[in-house]
Amino acid sequence: MELLRPSLLLTVSLSLLQLVSAQTSTDSAEVDALNKLIDYWNLRSKINLTTIDPCTRNASWASENANPRVACDCTSNSCHITHLKIYALDIMGELPSELFMLRKLMDLNLGQNVLNGSIPAEIGQLSNMQYLSLGINNFTGRVPTELGNLTKLISLSFSSNNFFGPLPKELGKLTSLQQLYIDSSGVTGSIPQEFANLKSLRILWASDNLFTGKIPEFFGTLTELADLRLQGTLLEGPIPRSFRALNKLEDLRIGDLSAEDSTLDFLESQKSLSILSLRNCRVSGKIPDQLGTFAKLQLLDLSFNKLTGQIPTSLQDLSTLQYLYLGNNNLSGELPVNIIAPNLIALDVSYNPLSGNLPRNFAKGGLSMNVIGSSINANNLQDGKALGMMQCLHSNTKCSNKVPSSSFSIKCGGTQIASASGIEFDDDSKTLEAASFYTSSGNRWAVSNTGNFISNPNGPLYIAQTDSQITGTLDSELYKTARISPSSLRYYGLGLENGKYRIDLHFAEITMEDSLSWKGLGRRVFDVYIQGERVLRDLNIKKEAGGSKRALVKTFEANVTNTIIEIHFFWAGKGTCCIPFQGTYGPLVSAIHASQVSTGNGSSKGDKKHVGKIVGITVGCAAALVIISSVFYLWWTKDSSSHIRIFTDSPKQNLVR
Ligand SMILES: *[C@@H]1O[C@H](CO)[C@@H](O)[C@H](O)[C@H]1NC(C)=O
Ligand SMILES: *[C@@H]1O[C@H](CO)[C@@H](O)[C@H](O)[C@H]1NC(C)=O
Ligand SMILES: *[C@@H]1O[C@H](CO)[C@@H](O)[C@H](O)[C@H]1NC(C)=O
Ligand SMILES: *[C@@H]1O[C@H](CO)[C@@H](O)[C@H](O)[C@H]1NC(C)=O
Ligand SMILES: *[C@@H]1O[C@H](CO)[C@@H](O)[C@H](O)[C@H]1NC(C)=O
Ligand SMILES: *[C@@H]1O[C@H](CO)[C@@H](O)[C@H](O)[C@H]1NC(C)=O
Ligand SMILES: *[C@@H]1O[C@H](CO)[C@@H](O)[C@H](O)[C@H]1NC(C)=O
Ligand SMILES: *[C@@H]1O[C@H](CO)[C@@H](O)[C@H](O)[C@H]1NC(C)=O
Repeated sequence: MELLRPSLLLTVSLSLLQLVSAQTSTDSAEVDALNKLIDYWNLRSKINLTTIDPCTRNASWASENANPRVACDCTSNSCHITHLKIYALDIMGELPSELFMLRKLMDLNLGQNVLNGSIPAEIGQLSNMQYLSLGINNFTGRVPTELGNLTKLISLSFSSNNFFGPLPKELGKLTSLQQLYIDSSGVTGSIPQEFANLKSLRILWASDNLFTGKIPEFFGTLTELADLRLQGTLLEGPIPRSFRALNKLEDLRIGDLSAEDSTLDFLESQKSLSILSLRNCRVSGKIPDQLGTFAKLQLLDLSFNKLTGQIPTSLQDLSTLQYLYLGNNNLSGELPVNIIAPNLIALDVSYNPLSGNLPRNFAKGGLSMNVIGSSINANNLQDGKALGMMQCLHSNTKCSNKVPSSSFSIKCGGTQIASASGIEFDDDSKTLEAASFYTSSGNRWAVSNTGNFISNPNGPLYIAQTDSQITGTLDSELYKTARISPSSLRYYGLGLENGKYRIDLHFAEITMEDSLSWKGLGRRVFDVYIQGERVLRDLNIKKEAGGSKRALVKTFEANVTNTIIEIHFFWAGKGTCCIPFQGTYGPLVSAIHASQVSTGNGSSKGDKKHVGKIVGITVGCAAALVIISSVFYLWWTKDSSSHIRIFTDSPKQNLVR
């Protein structure tokens, strides 16, 4: 499609303009500009201005829910266009200069399109602007300093774009700003000190940007903050003590901090919190008793930290709590007896040196629980509903696999299938839950998931699927389903002969599109660990495979010294959150194949048929792969009550940084 360049939009519909302005008092320069915008963005069939004034109150495009929408203010002698919404209609091209003729605009929503180019400095002329949304587009260039001139702004969004360079310090002039959405926008560098002036700020979404430096101390002075998201940046800890003043917080998500440790000492007065996620933040020290007074908490995620001490019994007072994630810490002692509150849906205490017995009501309906990697005595489990790992824990004969195997193959999220090269991939279509663990029949392998898609509670349950063909492979079917996870997805090969293994990880992006629509603007980014070592950092399947619905195979080597292979897919807070729908982020994997290789000449012992025919094989950083086998010690003992205990000898809290 040939689009008009902004500079060529001059003489369109001059006679039309005269007709319209003769009938009404709408500012003729604005009508003219609007007509040109409509042509430029190809919206002529959606806003038909041929016969009537754009400010006609009962026009179809004037109603509050219309899209596109044009609305005006006619209180003075002439009408002025104050509202323009062109939302999720895939308009393409740049911001033409005619847009800046609409001087009285106070609400401009161009979100979810594929607009490109940079934001012109003239944006600073729209000084009446209160609500400006440019989020989910393909804009590039620097964020213009002139945005700082729009001092009436109440809400500003330019999230999910391809900007570069720093956040302009001029944005600190926007003292009326209540909502600022800049997540995944591409900005880098430090968060300007001038943001300390944004005293009206209630919502700040800033995740997935390459911010550097420490989390600013001044955030603690933005006391109106109710919703703060800062995951997947390069920011360094600690979380400042000043955060204790943020007593209006309802949703706090900080993640993936580096450098210094944080503590939870700042959690004192945030009693309105319903979501508190401080995942992968190097948080050390104890979980404060005080948390038990945060009576509105629904989700508490303190996983992948360095917390020590006991889980405070006060947490059992959180009657509204639904999701409790404490995995991958150094928490010891026993689980509080009443930790399973009536509303609890998921409890993950995996990978902690916890001991003792399961809480009394562990078999409560609707609860999913994960205690793997702890020393919690789980031999009294009655049914698999309460805990998927029961199967293995109950019958050590199966678990210990009398005949060790030398390979395993998993069709993640799908049913059994044979590949073109003859590998049988096992069924892995079982529905997982927010803290669940499932072992395959024959206990050849297991899978565990932690986390829930907070913004999409009714979305797909940890499985993605497509009907489309997958290219770049002979095994299209292998990629039509995948496991997905909002946090942490682990696969374990069980009962393996010790030795050297080759591991093929099969990926294809099947949720994010690569169309020319805004739906093609998403980025999924995650990390992969094998035997505790990070083998892939910031994997973006779509980018590396050269598009979505294209196969990508990554091959690694691993040493097995304790009959187990652990493959961990981990979200480190990066990538877009919500393209093409809410909760589209985190790891995705289509299939896994591992087989022993005989030392010496490298031929496959596990399955001789496998010859790596699949295109696109990348042998990933084998040199950088130093498996520290002693870190993860999965120990199976037959004891008198004939159950199996699974625990780590040293918790893996240093695994993810
Ligand atoms: C716009 O409206 C006029 C008059 O109602 C009509 O004749 C014309 O076909 C319409 N144009 C489009 C593109 O819908
Ligand atoms: C708007 O309403 C007026 C009278 O209330 C009517 O004359 C006119 O035709 C309407 N216009 C449209 C586009 O519905
Ligand atoms: C914007 O996109 C259009 C087509 O969608 C393309 O022709 C144009 O070159 C792009 N402009 C920039 C600055 O990338
Ligand atoms: C708009 O912003 C620019 C850059 O921040 C500044 O130089 C200019 O004086 C401002 N203009 C107005 C009218 O405030
Ligand atoms: C875990 O906590 C214990 C004290 O409970 C401490 O001795 C140990 O060093 C901690 N481990 C790590 C890896 O921090
Ligand atoms: C976004 O812009 C980039 C170039 O900057 C282009 O390669 C890509 O195709 C664009 N995406 C869409 C969905 O238009
Ligand atoms: C590699 O080992 C296999 C069996 O283990 C053997 O058949 C083959 O000849 C060996 N190849 C080389 C190059 O040594
Ligand atoms: C496996 O162990 C061998 C020898 O013990 C070592 O040379 C090799 O680097 C290890 N491979 C990996 C992937 O850690």
